[in-house]
Amino acid sequence: MFKQLSIVLVVALSISCVKQEKDAMYQVASPNAKNNIKFELQNGVPTYSVSHGDKSVLNTSDLGFIFKNNDSLSSNFEVLHAEETAFDETWEQVWGEKHHIRNHYNQLSVTLQETSKNKRQLEIQFRAFNDGIAFRYVYPEQGKDSVVIMDELTSFNIANDGDAWWIPAYKTNRYEHLFTKSALSTLDTVHTPLTIKSNNGLYLSFHEADLKDFASYTIAHKSGTHFDLDLMPWSNGDKVRTNSSFNTPWRTLQIGEKPGDLIESYIVLNLNEPNKLEDTSWIENYKYLGVWWGMHISKYSFWEGPNHGASTKISKEYIDDCKKLGIHHLLIEGWNKGWTPAWYENKMHVFSFTEATDDFNLKEVTDYARDNDVKIIGYHETGSNIINYRKQIDAGMKLYQDMGINDVKIGQVGDKLNMKEWHGSQFGVQYYREVLEKAAKYKLTVNFHEPIKATGERRTYPNMMAREGARGQEYNAWSDGNPPSHTVTLPFTRMLAGPMDFTPGVIDVLETKGFNNRRVHTTAAKQLALYVTMYSPIQMLADLPENYIGKPEFQFLADVPTDWEDTKVLNAEIGEYITTVRKDLKSDDWYLGSMTNENTRDLEIDLSFLGEGTFEAQIYADAEGTDLENNPASVGISTKKVTATDKMTLKLPSGGGTAIRFKKI
Ligand code: NOJ
Repeated sequence: MFKQLSIVLVVALSISCVKQEKDAMYQVASPNAKNNIKFELQNGVPTYSVSHGDKSVLNTSDLGFIFKNNDSLSSNFEVLHAEETAFDETWEQVWGEKHHIRNHYNQLSVTLQETSKNKRQLEIQFRAFNDGIAFRYVYPEQGKDSVVIMDELTSFNIANDGDAWWIPAYKTNRYEHLFTKSALSTLDTVHTPLTIKSNNGLYLSFHEADLKDFASYTIAHKSGTHFDLDLMPWSNGDKVRTNSSFNTPWRTLQIGEKPGDLIESYIVLNLNEPNKLEDTSWIENYKYLGVWWGMHISKYSFWEGPNHGASTKISKEYIDDCKKLGIHHLLIEGWNKGWTPAWYENKMHVFSFTEATDDFNLKEVTDYARDNDVKIIGYHETGSNIINYRKQIDAGMKLYQDMGINDVKIGQVGDKLNMKEWHGSQFGVQYYREVLEKAAKYKLTVNFHEPIKATGERRTYPNMMAREGARGQEYNAWSDGNPPSHTVTLPFTRMLAGPMDFTPGVIDVLETKGFNNRRVHTTAAKQLALYVTMYSPIQMLADLPENYIGKPEFQFLADVPTDWEDTKVLNAEIGEYITTVRKDLKSDDWYLGSMTNENTRDLEIDLSFLGEGTFEAQIYADAEGTDLENNPASVGISTKKVTATDKMTLKLPSGGGTAIRFKKI
């Protein structure tokens, strides 16, 4: 249950006042005084800029809108009202990477009014946190029934060039691209989170929070290091269709002095509304096996035929494997009618969400699972045919509820929803929210594949568990795969948005039962480390069950939790390496995951995070002589007694990693 732990709300009267002037300047600083936002109105034109200590982060940048019929709301303003407030609250996550989160900021709210005859008002709220800044527009009701936004004029005039890690926007395959590192000034139009190592030494990441009933934004190059916020349009070119009033999502900029600061920042969650679900007792974190990898490596097919994966027989065998491995959740994909070898072509393919294939009996399988203490995870593949899904969604979700199923994975394969609208458009944002709210009514948690990017909605709807929204493990099954740098880039980019269903844990890294010349481009020990470095409340054990049974290193996967008291990044360089430690929510144990890219390196770890007591370090490392090319599946297991005053050296070979459980003794 959501609990407010402490709230201090202070209204600082320093600048609370009523003004009417065409030139004005206000500033608001973060509680630690490091991040500063300056709002200026010059000759009726509003702008903002951001600094961190004595470093400029954003030079003077634009604000405002263009509505339909070239109706601009960006100049001829005067300040009607300005107010600074302070807020400090610590709240509790239903599940998460950190149990208690502090939401501490100072806010400047400026209400502008046009001096022209329209006299329209526009409020801009700026929040300065210790870990970054955010702002949003509030357009109050003022005489019109609907407003169509054709452009949001917000710009980011970034003060310095630097290295940017980016994926392109408006391309096929949605967010499923490898991140490219290049000079910020050379980018075109890219998705957020956009992470930058600035030449002034700061680490920055642009994103947004509380995205609802609005278009998501991408970042479009203007000139030099000046970028425009670019709203993803509807197919007719409208950007956002609103009623008489609207709030934009929060435009967020995380600011860190080291890469790990971006990961330890909770701005995006803090800018979402508190939990709306009164009863969360049915929401469970879990690790799961799946009738899944077998299809991706072509051992099984999604569709009916001699190799159909989701038959009653194979599903029951997987339930038996869950039991052997002590795993309590099983995903079954492809049990329903509609799958064909061409299912993934974005052609309004029609799936049934209630009718099973001839060789599958949902009741028999869910009953067998229940008898064996296993819960089935349902699957809905829409093929991006949203018209078809909307017709069946209630029946499909009700069927799962009736079968005692509490969790559903929902796929939207296709380049456009209904072959027409971007996943990130307002159409898409409305669709994903509608599905999430409906799932909550049927007491279903959601794992979206081919999602809209996460913007912290898991705080408001804690049934929003994880999502894809990046190149996941599956690319290692049927493509050239993800290079070793991919998994040491994701934590600083995609993962800043929220939990990812990356589907780690393929320890048969050479895919001995898969396609020729396909493999996972890590060692097996690095696959174990992913469970700590990539946070998700649900974690797949993606490999075939037979690859886990009898393997001593499976013990780490059996032990590693999915719900944490705290998270710390001990060392990191984006795209190079990362070491993350997390404290178990339910015990005094800590877990460590450390990973490198293609470069071999030794990392010295200070164990002071452990606090009091003695711990047994259960170490799962790359075995002697193991690296990406030699014996990559070989994991060496050792134990050692340690305390907080000790140091450890982690030896990471090319593509390698280390996973450690620090068990309190
Ligand atoms: C792509 C998803 O990422 C994957 O997990 C799923 O198995 C296939 N689509 C089939 O829907």
